[in-house]
Amino acid sequence: MMHLAAYSAAKPSGGNIRARRRIRYAFVGTLPLALAACAEAPLDTTRPAGPAAQRIFDLSVPVFAIAAVIFILVEAAIVYAALKFRDRDDDAEPKQIHGNNRLEVLWTIIPALILVGIAVPTVGAIVDLTSAPADAVEIDVIGHQWWFEFSYPEGVTTANVLVVPAGTPIELNMTSKDVVHSFWVPRLAGKRDVIPGQYTSLYFEADEPGAYWGQCAEFCGLSHAKMSFRVQALPPAEYTAWLQDQQRPAVEPPAGSLEAEGRDVFLSRGCIACHNIRGVSEVAGEVPGAPDLTHFASRSVFAGALLSVDSDDDLRDWLANPPAVKSGSFMPNLGLSPDDIAALIAYLRSLE
Ligand code: CUA
Repeated sequence: MMHLAAYSAAKPSGGNIRARRRIRYAFVGTLPLALAACAEAPLDTTRPAGPAAQRIFDLSVPVFAIAAVIFILVEAAIVYAALKFRDRDDDAEPKQIHGNNRLEVLWTIIPALILVGIAVPTVGAIVDLTSAPADAVEIDVIGHQWWFEFSYPEGVTTANVLVVPAGTPIELNMTSKDVVHSFWVPRLAGKRDVIPGQYTSLYFEADEPGAYWGQCAEFCGLSHAKMSFRVQALPPAEYTAWLQDQQRPAVEPPAGSLEAEGRDVFLSRGCIACHNIRGVSEVAGEVPGAPDLTHFASRSVFAGALLSVDSDDDLRDWLANPPAVKSGSFMPNLGLSPDDIAALIAYLRSLE
C-alpha cells in the first residue's frame, strides 16, 4: 500500500500511470491466490485428524519455524551485502574474507548442528510410523490407472471409497497392477508409493467418523490428476454392519423391471469382461481390471472419486463416453443407446 500512496502523491505522467496500473494489476492478480489459501481445503495437511498425521504435523511446525528464521537471516544478509558493497565510483576493494578458517569452521558447524537437530526427531517419526500396532485392521490396496481398489480379509472388494472403523489403527498393504502410484490422505497420514511387484505398508487412524479426501500423489499417466478417492471412517458398530452387508451377493432385481433390463445390458454389452458383480458375473483371473460393482450404490463416488453416484447426469455422462470424462480411461465407449443407459443406471442404483 505504501507504493500506491507514494505514486498517487506524485504528479501523474504517462510513465506513472502505467506503473500505477501495473501495481494495481499485480495486487488484483495476487489477491485471489492469497484468498485461496484461506479456503476450506479438503487436502489440508495442517488439520490432522489422526495420530499419524498429527505426528507429521508436530514435526513440520518446528522445522518450518527453523527454515523461516534461516530464510529471514539469509535474505537480510543478501540485502545488506547488496546495498553495502554496491558499485560506487570511488571503489576501493572491500576487505576479503576468503580462507578465514574461523568463519569456514563456523558456517560448516552451524548448519550441520541444525541438520542433526532436525534429523533426530524426523528419523524417530519415520520409524514410529513405519509399523502399525499389532491390533491394526489390515486392508489390501491395489493401485490401477486411475482408481484404487480396496480388498478386505472378509472377502469384500470395493473401489474409490476406503471404509474404515474410526478410532482404530489401520494397516494398508499396498501394491499396484500397472505403474507407480502414491496413496495420500493428507488429514490422516503421509504419502506412500504404491509400486507394481512390491508391497508397501501404511499405518493411519481416523480419530473421528467422517469423510477424508485422498489423492494419488505420483504422476501415473493421463488421468493422474483425476485419481482421487475417499476414506470413509464409520463408528465401529456401523463399520461391522457395513462389512456384513458388503459380504452379501448383489441384490436380485424383480423380473420385468427396468433394473432387470439393466442387468441384461450389463451381461450382454461387454461390461462383464472387466467388472465383477458377485452372484451375477465374475471376471476370470486374479485381479479384474475394473471396480467391483456388487455394492456400487453403497458408495458415494465413482470413476476415481470424480463423479457422484447420486447424480443421474454423472452416471449418464460416464456410461455414454468414459474417455471423454476421464482421459485415457480403460473403460471404452461401448456405444450404449439412451435406453440402455437408463436401464443400466436403474440397475446400478439398485446395487445397495
Ligand atoms: Cu495414480 Cu497418479
